[in-house]
Amino acid sequence: MGTDKDTQPKHLPLIGDEDPIVIRRCTLEDLEGVIEVNEKELPEDYPYFFYKSILDNYPESFLVACNREGIIIAYIMWRVERTPSINSLKLVNKGHLVSIAVSKDYRRHRIASTLLSNSMEKVRKYKIDEFVLEVRVTNYTAINLYKKFNFSTQSIKERYYRDGENAYYMTCKV
Ligand SMILES: CC(C)(COP(=O)(O)OP(=O)(O)OC[C@H]1O[C@@H](n2cnc3c(N)ncnc32)[C@H](O)[C@@H]1OP(=O)(O)O)[C@@H](O)C(=O)NCCC(=O)NCCS
Repeated sequence: MGTDKDTQPKHLPLIGDEDPIVIRRCTLEDLEGVIEVNEKELPEDYPYFFYKSILDNYPESFLVACNREGIIIAYIMWRVERTPSINSLKLVNKGHLVSIAVSKDYRRHRIASTLLSNSMEKVRKYKIDEFVLEVRVTNYTAINLYKKFNFSTQSIKERYYRDGENAYYMTCKV
């Protein structure tokens, strides 16, 4: 799946010409940098093989953002799940946002928005019926971001996170 055009990096002067940000597909060599951002910015961490399996299975929608030194400062990754739809027993394909994070110094420059819009376009190619995600009920920043992308809350998942916090289950039509 994918064309040469899909793998070309996008140069986005998001911060300014002095620190242009490049958004491109993740590679195997990038995983260490992705894990570093994840460990700094989110309490949920995953083993290396988890990232690797997402990269192997859903490479088109696993994107990274790099600064001018080539350091990874943000990422987004999705997977596709076949599960019953929320209001019937029919099985549907769901594009599940696994994780997104932007390093603190680079926030509020529309990097997450750019990662989301670019990757959602790619996830659609996996023939999904809807986009879904979980978010901590106190993560107002992320909730605002997802609402901007037309996600709406469907339910609360009680004690979804290891520390006992609840999650909103949010979905968005394709
Ligand atoms: C959530 C996160 C990815 C947003 O990244 P970002 O690049 O700063 O986001 P953007 O600049 O694209 O902002 C897009 C929208 O998100 C919302 N948003 C972003 N930062 C916000 C803040 N500090 N307060 C309130 N809303 C905020 C706004 O609606 C914003 O749109 P606006 O600028 O037009 O108001 C980033 O804060 C982050 O990495 N947080 C830690 C990791 C995390 O929580 N991930 C989500 C787990 S479910």
